Amino acid sequence: MPANIVVGTQWGDEGKGKIIDIIASRADVVVRSQGGNNAGHTVVSAGETYKLHLIPSGILYKDTPCLIGAGVVLDPKDICCEIDSLSARGISFDNLKIDPRAHVIMPWHITLDGLSEKFRGNSDIGTTKRGIGPCYMDKYERCGLRVYDLIHPEIFAEKARATGKLKNKIITEVYGGEPHNIEAIIKEYNEYGKKLAKYVDDVSVLVYNAAKENKTIMFEGAQATLLDIDYGTYPYVTSSHPVSAGVCVGTGVGPMIITNIIGVAKAYTTRVGKGPFPTELEDKTGETIRNKGGEFGTTTGRPRRTGWFDAVIVRHSVRVNGLSSLAINKLDTLSDIGPLKVCVAYKKSDGTLIDDFPPALEELADCTPVYETFKGFSGDISGCRSFDELPEECKVYIQRLEELCGCPISMVGVGPARDQIIER
Ligand code: GDP
Ligand code: IMO
Ligand code: MG
Repeated sequence: MPANIVVGTQWGDEGKGKIIDIIASRADVVVRSQGGNNAGHTVVSAGETYKLHLIPSGILYKDTPCLIGAGVVLDPKDICCEIDSLSARGISFDNLKIDPRAHVIMPWHITLDGLSEKFRGNSDIGTTKRGIGPCYMDKYERCGLRVYDLIHPEIFAEKARATGKLKNKIITEVYGGEPHNIEAIIKEYNEYGKKLAKYVDDVSVLVYNAAKENKTIMFEGAQATLLDIDYGTYPYVTSSHPVSAGVCVGTGVGPMIITNIIGVAKAYTTRVGKGPFPTELEDKTGETIRNKGGEFGTTTGRPRRTGWFDAVIVRHSVRVNGLSSLAINKLDTLSDIGPLKVCVAYKKSDGTLIDDFPPALEELADCTPVYETFKGFSGDISGCRSFDELPEECKVYIQRLEELCGCPISMVGVGPARDQIIER
C-alpha cells in the first residue's frame, strides 16, 4: 500500500508537476489536498505542454482517479474553464472527484485579495490575487461556502446572501471599492454547480477505501514548505499547509497510511512574490539563470526572483516534512553559469553560525548566507539518463547537496520532459 506525498521544499515552482506526473504513472489514485488555482504545475508529455492550476497533475493518465480533497479552495469558474480547455485537448475527466467539504472561492474573495494587497502598499505580499487568502479566512471564520452548498442551489443562495451582504459592506465601507451584485453571482454560480455536481464525492472515503484495497496513492503538493502558513516565511506565505502533514487534514486520512515523502527542489532557488530570500542574486548571474531556466510564473507570468541553492531552507524542509528523499530539478539550467555557490549555513551579525532556518523574519534579517563554492560545468546534460553519465562537477555538486540537506537525492531533473530524469 505505498502512499507517496510529493511536496515543494523551497518557495514553489520546483518542478513538482513533472515529478508528480512521473510518480502518477505508477499510482492508482492521485489526490490534491490544499491550495487552489494559485498553483501552476507544468507537465511536458509527448511534446505537449500542460499548465495545470487546480486540476491534479495526474489527470493526464485517463484511468487514474484524480481527487480534490477538502483542504483545497476551489474557484468554480476557473475549474470549469480548466476542464473545458483540457477536454478540448482530449483529456478525460471521467475520474475527477471533488470533496463536498472543499471551500468555494467567491468573487468577493478575489476582490478582497486585490483590495487588501493595495491597502498594504509597499508591504504587500505579492499574492496571486486568486482570492486564496480571503477564502481560507472565511473558512476559519466559519462563514465560508462549500462545494456541498454550491450543488444545492437553495442552501447556496441563502448563505451567499448572508455572507455577500457582509462582504459588500467591507468592500465598500472599509476599502471604498465597488459592491458585488449578489443575485447575479448566485445565478452564475448555480450554473457552475450544475456542471460540477457530477464530480462531487467524499474524497476521505475514496482514499480510505483505496488504501484498504492496497492501491498506490499519490498525494500531490501545491505551493511549498517556505510558503506554509506556519513553517514558511510568515507573513510572506500562502494561507494553507503545503507541508506533508497538511495532506492528512486536507484529504481526511490518518498519517499511518503514508509510506514515502518526496521533496522537490530546484538545483538553485526561485521565488515569486515578495518576502525574504537570503541567497537571492540581483545581478547578471541571477538574470542569466532566470532567462536560461525560463523563470517566469506559470500562474501570473511574473518574473521569478532567482538565487543560489540554500541548504538551510531545504534542511528545514527535510525536517518539517519528514522527507524520505529529494528530487533535484533543473540541474541542466546551471550549465555554463560558472562557479556555483551553495549556502551551507547563516551567519548572524555577532558572528554566530546558524544551521536551522529561523522562525521569524526579524531574526532572518540579521543573517547572511555562508557559501561553499563549486566548480561549474558546461555542455548539454539534458540527454543524460544515469548519474554516471553526468560530468564529474555535477556529481560532486549533487553529492554535496545530499550531505548538506541530510537526505538522499533519488531523482535529478535534466530537462522539462517526463523522461528527462535521472533516477538513482
Ligand atoms: P511546479 O509549480 O513545482 O509544478 O513547477 P512549475 O511548473 O511552476 O515550474 C517549473 C518549470 O520548470 C516548468 O516550466 C517545468 O517544465 C520546468 N522543469 C521542471 N523540471 C525541469 C528540469 O529538470 N529542467 C528544466 N530545464 N526544466 C524543468
Ligand atoms: P506552485 O504550486 C510559487 C506565492 C505567491 C505569493 C504567496 C501568497 O506552482 O508551486 P497566494 O495567492 O497563495 O495568497 O500568494 O505565495 N505562491 C506561489 N509561488 N508557486 C506557487 O504554487 C505559489 N502559490 C502561491 O506568489 O508570494
Ligand atoms: Mg508552479
